[in-house]
Amino acid sequence: AALLAASTAAADYPEKPVTVIVPFAAGGPTDKVARDLAEALRKPLGATIIIENVGGVGGTLGANKVAKAAPDGYTLLLHHIGIASATALYRTLPYKTLEDFEYLGMINEVPMTLIGRPNLPANNYAELSKWLESNKGNINLAHAGVGSASHLCGLLYQSAIKIDMTTVPYKGTAPAMNDLLGGQVDIMCDQTTNTTGQIEAGKVKAYAVMSSKRLSSGALAKLPTADESGLKGFNLAVWHGLYAPKGTPKAVIDKVNAALRVALKDADFHKREEALGAVIINDARLAPAEHKKFVEAEINKLSPVIKAAGIYAD
Ligand code: MLT
Repeated sequence: AALLAASTAAADYPEKPVTVIVPFAAGGPTDKVARDLAEALRKPLGATIIIENVGGVGGTLGANKVAKAAPDGYTLLLHHIGIASATALYRTLPYKTLEDFEYLGMINEVPMTLIGRPNLPANNYAELSKWLESNKGNINLAHAGVGSASHLCGLLYQSAIKIDMTTVPYKGTAPAMNDLLGGQVDIMCDQTTNTTGQIEAGKVKAYAVMSSKRLSSGALAKLPTADESGLKGFNLAVWHGLYAPKGTPKAVIDKVNAALRVALKDADFHKREEALGAVIINDARLAPAEHKKFVEAEINKLSPVIKAAGIYAD
């Protein structure tokens, strides 16, 4: 009878609002992607989408909440590269990345930018490097918790330039950006979904794009890549995907995946995301199996780099 109930529930899915957990504070880049996507997903999925921000511990609190949620399709997770990097950064994660989630498809890739507080006395990458050298031991790098994209970028940047910094964690890069704008912290790596507006308004110093190619739009087109600036081969872009608890019925997974594919073609979604430097995924990784394979490959790629940098969150 329970099996019958579950299969009819799956067939009738969705019959009530669907909650998408964002594992970072409202107003940040992950939240931005989630709210943009929710707009485009509502119609094809046929459900009201509720965004719930569950920040903390580099996104692992929110991820764990979904891993432990009822596998009925009404609690989903929108997460980024942190779902892979946390696997290497935490010795005791409360969930298993490749076993405790169903993979519903990938969403986009977002470049990272290296920015500084508005009054930082360095106006380009070379001047920043000099300033960092002369302020060794007194540099504050903001990020969104160990396991976040901003932390991963900051970690890789520190080990690439061999300058240790004090890392200041926040529940997301929205609150981190407030302190950067206020001059409480010095630099931060963050996604263009969160930094484009500030850079174009001249509210922060902008030093480099941390992914492999320059950005095309507006003020960001002037930004050199880290590779051009001397960090040979530095390339970190933040990808986002959608997840459900393990055991979510295949009929539900297929419905969400089909709706996601329609949402990602939505013109308004494209316009909003591309204006902020994001690139919408349009390849095999839209399929759950390929999405999962990609995350596994990212775990295998990031783990040795993170271990070489010698840090663990716990
Ligand atoms: C956010 O949404 O706050 C960011 O994605 C956090 C991060 O991963 O840096």
